[in-house]
Amino acid sequence: MQPRSVAFSRTTITELMIPAYANFGGKIHGGILLSLMDKVAYACSAKHAGTYCVTVSVDEVNFLMPVEVGDLVSLLASVNYVGRTSLVVGIRVIAENVRTGIIKHTNTSYFTMVAKGDDDRPTEVPPLQLESRDDARRFLEAIKRRELKAGYRDAFDNEKSSLAVDENLSRLASERCVITFSGE
Ligand SMILES: CC(C)(COP(=O)(O)OP(=O)(O)OC[C@H]1O[C@@H](n2cnc3c(N)ncnc32)[C@H](O)[C@@H]1OP(=O)(O)O)[C@@H](O)C(=O)NCCC(=O)NCCS
Repeated sequence: MQPRSVAFSRTTITELMIPAYANFGGKIHGGILLSLMDKVAYACSAKHAGTYCVTVSVDEVNFLMPVEVGDLVSLLASVNYVGRTSLVVGIRVIAENVRTGIIKHTNTSYFTMVAKGDDDRPTEVPPLQLESRDDARRFLEAIKRRELKAGYRDAFDNEKSSLAVDENLSRLASERCVITFSGE
């Protein structure tokens, strides 16, 4: 398979934040941004893969700043990593206030996508051509993120199995919760 460069599939979606996207507090719903992120991740991964892709997992969605009605939101997506059938798309979300020109970085997230063939099974994707140190850094960071996530998952599974409710109820005494059930 011929490698494809990061530039080949780099994708940007820009959308105006209209009043219909606002929550009761007048800011933009997180779900609107998530939906746009999913859309740009799909476009970018499908372009690289040359096939239909599905979203498998999303890393780190932290909304650092509120987005306002009237902002122009841009989602800049590029393939950071490819495995055999999976790709990691890094998405940087920025919101621009068109009157002041102030640009806010609202979040950066990483979507893992899997390419599907005509038989609906995972299918191989082209290797990624790394044309700059930044491309290589992002690829290495994606590998590290994947390793740390696997470690976290194993560590949490271990902790969870030792987290018997009855033996740990006392830990909740200083938390902001009220226990209204009795033993057994
Ligand atoms: C994604 C999906 C095809 C994976 O199926 P699977 O039987 O686990 O397939 P495989 O084991 O061959 O894994 C395929 C790739 O996905 C990766 N993968 C699977 N689960 C993953 C996870 N939780 N996180 C990250 N990558 C994952 C594997 O590492 C593999 O990558 P690689 O080929 O680059 O090494 C399957 O889980 C699926 O269809 N999920 C639903 C996706 C969907 O509908 N998304 C829309 C949201 S509603």
